[in-house]
Amino acid sequence: MSDERFAFARPYLAAPILDAETLQARVREMGAEISRDYRGRAVHVVAVLKGSMMIVADLLRALTVPVSVDFIAVSSYGPEARASGAVRLIKDLDESIAGRHVLVVEDVIDTGLTLNYILGVLRRRQPASLEVATLLDKPAHRLVDLPIRYIGFTLPDRFVVGYGLDFRERFRNLPFIAELREDLIEEELIE
Ligand code: PRP
Repeated sequence: MSDERFAFARPYLAAPILDAETLQARVREMGAEISRDYRGRAVHVVAVLKGSMMIVADLLRALTVPVSVDFIAVSSYGPEARASGAVRLIKDLDESIAGRHVLVVEDVIDTGLTLNYILGVLRRRQPASLEVATLLDKPAHRLVDLPIRYIGFTLPDRFVVGYGLDFRERFRNLPFIAELREDLIEEELIE
């Protein structure tokens, strides 16, 4: 957050949460752990757009087993529908996952509704195995219990941005994670 190159973001941020070095080190550790667990197997990474783009890019470079990657995108129907778990598939995978060792990669798991929907869709396609890696776990509002094999960091209930995570599509480019100023969350627009 003290990085001058990202001074544009400073007025919107309340507090630093995870600096770039900490993120990089943890993602490398996750990569090493996943590589150990999948030794002798190829991993098919399914990245959930858009927030996971940073962790996926870094995690792939930390994997020392054969890897392929595909992308899926979902969208909730809005805050009210979201509470019911209604999620819409807006970009499906390009390839079949039948018989493959699938690792779903998320940036953050909050209520768990998005991931629950995605896992349901993927399970029906009969992968050889199906596991989840998430950079951030925010268990405070969890509505469905999910099997999350790899967790980067567990965070309290804070609105955080950076390293792929956005507020109204902004701040994904920050190499660190910071808490957004609470008063901005209610505002209509930021310049
Ligand atoms: C985030 C995140 C998860 C979901 C988690 O995506 O990437 O997919 O929310 O929330 P949940 O556990 O409460 O369902 P978001 O909708 O912000 O889209 P984005 O990844 O494109 O930013």
